[in-house]
Formats: sequence, C-alpha cells, structure tokens
Amino acid sequence: MIQFEDFSFRYKSSEAFALQGISMTIENGAFVGIIGNSGAGKSTLTYTLSGIIPHHFDGDFYGSVKVNGLDTVEVKPEKLAQFVGEVFQDIDSQMVSSIVEDEILFGMENFGVPHDEIGRRLDSVLDMLGIRDLKDRQISSLSGGQKQKVAIAAILAMDPEIIVLDEPTGELDPASSIMIFDILRRLNREFGKTVIVVEQKIMLLCEYVDRLLVMDAGKIVFDGRSEEIVQQVPLFKNLGINVPRVVELGQQLTAAGLYHGAIPLDLDQAEKMVKEVLADAGV
Ligand SMILES: Nc1ncnc2c1ncn2[C@@H]1O[C@H](COP(=O)(O)OP(=O)(O)OP(=O)(O)O)[C@@H](O)[C@H]1O
Ligand SMILES: [Mg+2]
Repeated sequence: MIQFEDFSFRYKSSEAFALQGISMTIENGAFVGIIGNSGAGKSTLTYTLSGIIPHHFDGDFYGSVKVNGLDTVEVKPEKLAQFVGEVFQDIDSQMVSSIVEDEILFGMENFGVPHDEIGRRLDSVLDMLGIRDLKDRQISSLSGGQKQKVAIAAILAMDPEIIVLDEPTGELDPASSIMIFDILRRLNREFGKTVIVVEQKIMLLCEYVDRLLVMDAGKIVFDGRSEEIVQQVPLFKNLGINVPRVVELGQQLTAAGLYHGAIPLDLDQAEKMVKEVLADAGV
C-alpha cells in the first residue's frame, strides 16, 4: 500500500512547488493511470515512490510518503527497490549496460536472484515483450521504441510488487502500446501487481486502468474511475487534455436526442451505440 499524507515537494532550484498537498492511498493490486499536462508533476510523483525524492533530488519535503508502511524519507531507495520497480520517462538515464541481455541481467544479479531463476526470468521477459531477437544487440543501436521495451523488460525481470512506469509507450506505435498495456493488465490481474502508469493516451487509460488521476500544477484535480470522466469533460477541456473521441461523439448524439444510452468509453461500446442509433433511424 502507498500512502501520501499532506505531501508537498519543492525542488531546491525552484520557487514553485512541484507537488502540493497530496493526500491519497493506493491499495495493493490497484491499476492506476496518471495523466496531465507537461510540468503537472507526474514524473515528480513517481520519483517519490522509488525514493529518488528525497534521496537524489534535494528540496523541501513536507508531509509523508509511505510505501508498504516504510517512510520514504527514512529508508534508502535500495530498500524501496525491493518492492518498487520504476521505468523512467528518460530511459537513457536508466540504462546501465551496453548490451540488451546484460541490461536485463543487471538488476536481477544485483538483487541476488538465484542463478537458475535468472535464466528463466530472462527468457520469460524476452518473450513477453517480443524482443528475443534484440538480446545480443548494442543498446545504442536500438530505436526509441525498442529501448523502451528493453527498459520495461529489465524492470519486469526483477518481479517488483509495485510497478511504476512513466510514459512507457511514448516511443511506441499503437500496436506495441496495446501490447504493453495487455502485459500490465495480466501482471495486475493474474499476479496481483500494483501498477501505476503515467500515460498521455487517454483511450488506453480509459480502457485499462481502474483508477485515473488527473494532475495539474502539482495537484491531483481528479481521482476516480475512468467511467467518471464522462462527467468531467469540462475539466479535461479546461486543462487541454483530450477526452476520448467516442465520449464526445456519445455526448453529441445524446445532445441531439439521437441516443439515450450510456456514453461509450471504448470502441466496442461506440460501435454498439452507432448500431443503436442507426437501428432507431431505420437504417
Ligand atoms: N530536477 C528538477 N529540478 C528542478 N525542477 C524540476 C526538476 N524536475 C522537474 N522540475 C519541475 O517540477 C515541475 C513538475 O515537473 P515534472 O517533470 O514532474 O512534470 P511532468 O508532469 O512529468 O511533465 P512531462 O509531461 O513534461 O513529463 C515542473 O515545473 C518542472 O519544471
Ligand atoms: Mg514527466
């Protein structure tokens, strides 16, 4: 479980607070999505979970952040790393090896994962992410999307209880983005992992996460189920965050008196809506 209590943080070099007055609990087994404009504080929030804040970034820290009951100020990031695995937004800063296989092995070896288990997990994550053919490649020769998959594989190989990913699909095409979210869903549902993912693609968040956090200027301005964004369209518009087009279409058809059902959140539901509207119109 993760508990924020009246938590605020200001980077040493800044006048403004990057995060302000955050109080919330994330239960074990949650699948949480975070969205918000650039500079909203999404990455900063993820740094607090792995202890990079306050241990690597100096600043003013108020309130408390606890991960599995451990106060992140009191325990070292190395201790938190036993529970929390984070895929950073800047993957280049995360990479420690020059060869793909070494990158995936590095974390496991440092964590003292038994030798035969290391081989099994290496195979498992290479297959899971579809990157077996990249195993012997130089990381510097990979595309952004390939690097992103390697960074994710390296974290998953450590089998953390809490998986934090900061814009993990930024460099990926739509098919690979869906693949990543399918993997996260499986880890969440089948293995009970807590998944916290910063993501700009609102459709992916609506389809996969159980809980959505919208951040703006260091604060959480919405915290609820993704279905509830249907009532939050003005908030999203004000922040300049796109709501899924299917939501807008649903609202327009409703406003025009052509549709009376629930507003769709994904393409399957949208298809059902359009069929209903067409059937009503006698098409
Ligand atoms: N290392 C740092 N030192 C000083 N200020 C920082 C540092 N990192 C981030 N900030 C500031 O903290 C605020 C929040 O930044 P953060 O990177 O958490 O936002 P973000 O929501 O992740 O943005 P993006 O969508 O661009 O990744 C911004 O005002 C940013 O300028
Ligand atoms: Mg960020």
